[in-house]
Amino acid sequence: MAETGTDIQKAKLLLQQNELVAIPTETVYGLAANALDPIAVAKIFEAKQRPTFDPLIVHTFGLSEIEAFTTGIHPVLRKLAETFWPGPLTLLLPKKSNVPDLTTSGLDRVGVRVPDHELTLALLRELQFPLAAPSANPFGYISPTAAEHVNKQLGDKIRYILDGGPCRVGLESTIVGEENGEIIVYRLGGLSIDAIERVAGKVSVQLNQSSNPNAPGQLKSHYAPVKPVVIGNMNALIEEHKGKKIAVLSFGNFSGNDNVFMEKNLSAHGDLREAAANLFSYLRLLDESEADVIITNFVPAHDLGLAINDRLKRAAAKN
Ligand code: TXA
Ligand code: MG
Repeated sequence: MAETGTDIQKAKLLLQQNELVAIPTETVYGLAANALDPIAVAKIFEAKQRPTFDPLIVHTFGLSEIEAFTTGIHPVLRKLAETFWPGPLTLLLPKKSNVPDLTTSGLDRVGVRVPDHELTLALLRELQFPLAAPSANPFGYISPTAAEHVNKQLGDKIRYILDGGPCRVGLESTIVGEENGEIIVYRLGGLSIDAIERVAGKVSVQLNQSSNPNAPGQLKSHYAPVKPVVIGNMNALIEEHKGKKIAVLSFGNFSGNDNVFMEKNLSAHGDLREAAANLFSYLRLLDESEADVIITNFVPAHDLGLAINDRLKRAAAKN
């Protein structure tokens, strides 16, 4: 198990020595290392068993810092950064040559964001370099929204976990970039499309649904529990799986059922923000239970519901 605490100086020292440190953010916990050092970055890929075609997001503490490793920012993206940073927004920006190819998987753009968490912001201000940090989970598994999730799965591969408590948003950042003047959303996440469009005007959404080397973490099966996940009319699915130990991931006023072995309600009063914050930790609880199958249904498809449904789909997809 890794040591866990709130010691920023300790985290700083380890990162300066090219070691891995898990960091809290408002979205999910990240597995951090010096983004500008290929050896440090290689340790991230190794610990996560992440394919090197999947690039990393670089974290810094302010918009003024990005000049050190990017060559420019489209005015609309700048407006988004000014409005939503610190926050759950990643921008794909043209990279400078000091960003190692390993960090961006050889792509010309680097994903950048300013996370909204005081501990991590304080750490970033102390460092002379930005931090590359993917979600701190083994590749393909559910993202961690608490320090103990990180410790359970990667504890033996990390020197220190900076514990910032449970993640407030609970879904990864929304990834946005610009191509030929068009603003494009590549991954749905903790910042809703509506919020982005209020600032950027109409955007296009280009989510990759299949395995694609250029795809931003958009593999068809991702965020996936070990147990089978099925999505649809819950009462019908419960009937269909009768005789099995059924776990239910519900939303709103779902009235239990005698055949249900275990139920977690994402938000009993139907609040999408609360559901987002609970999603990964509840999926984890159900996955760790003795249930045979996890039954769930889509949440209302607006605001954060779109990103929640995206994660549910990927959790249910088979490799
Ligand atoms: O909220 C988040 O974004 C969290 C926290 C820790 O900041 N990080 C996160 O990282 O979700 P990760 O690695 O699990 O997912 C980031 C996705 C990757 O799947 C990657 O493919 C995509 O962002 N990405 C990063 N840089 C990219 C680039 N240059 N071009 C296209 N996609 C990129
Ligand atoms: Mg991830």
